[in-house]
Amino acid sequence: MKYTNILVSVKQKIALVTINRPKKLNALNKQTLTELHWAFTALLTDDAVRVIVLTGSGEKAFVAGADISEFHTFSSQQGYDLAKEGQELVFNFLEQSTKPVIAAINGYALGGGLELAMSCHIRVASDHAKMGLPETTLGLIPGYGGTQRLPQLVGKGMAHEMILTAGMIDANRALEIGLVNHVTSADQLLKRSFSIAEKIIKNSPNALAKSIAAMHAGFSEGVDGYKAEMEAFAACFDSQDFKTGTKAFMSKKTPKF
Ligand code: CAA
Repeated sequence: MKYTNILVSVKQKIALVTINRPKKLNALNKQTLTELHWAFTALLTDDAVRVIVLTGSGEKAFVAGADISEFHTFSSQQGYDLAKEGQELVFNFLEQSTKPVIAAINGYALGGGLELAMSCHIRVASDHAKMGLPETTLGLIPGYGGTQRLPQLVGKGMAHEMILTAGMIDANRALEIGLVNHVTSADQLLKRSFSIAEKIIKNSPNALAKSIAAMHAGFSEGVDGYKAEMEAFAACFDSQDFKTGTKAFMSKKTPKF
């Protein structure tokens, strides 16, 4: 597949997806969202890939938001379609991915950019990264899941403050409030993200997928997360990975999944 706005590479079971519009601070236009959907669809069915790291090109931005130049003349119906398509194709798709996705936040993560990072399962930020949901300065609200995922991650009070003030926070503050898992220097960002990925790839791919699904279930309206966990737990017993993992444990070996 030939992409124009993203770069994709795979090395030792870890895929690196880089959003590559640095002159526009990697803003998410329609083409970029479409390419992200294609790339993730391909990576999720590629047995050579176990974990995906997502980052932005250049030193300045992870993603500075949805591309304002594409929607500034939209009507409410077009706005609805923009949010729906983006959420379905990329944001919800990533969150419900069967493989773990790590956001390596290398600079500004604003609006749709922070929403993208929040759709990932783990976030690592470089120490110069700045994060925020500035949509209210545009007369908008977050449309790619920000009003839902930010309170899930940092609690309602901090989420209200961030969305209502439209302010940016730095990486250390993001760490303090639980918005990111780790902060590192810019030159160590990918190394740190890959070292987390390397720990993950040692584990059962089936169990990783089921863990993500069970955790997601608890945040889904009308779904009993505990029941979803029981069912996912039970389904693991029928898997080859369960046989491999428990057999290795019983014979004091390291499992190879
Ligand atoms: N959309 C489109 N273009 C963008 C962009 C965005 N979100 N963010 C930056 N750019 C473009 C700028 O227009 C500029 O392009 P030109 O050189 O062609 O003029 C280029 O990227 C560089 O940006 P700046 O010159 O503005 O860089 P700066 O260092 O002065 O400022 C910034 C950096 C503070 C991040 C500033 O670019 C900014 O405020 N960007 C917009 C942030 C924002 O409001 N994001 C939310 C978007 S709405 C959204 O995401 C809705 C949703 O939830 C679905």
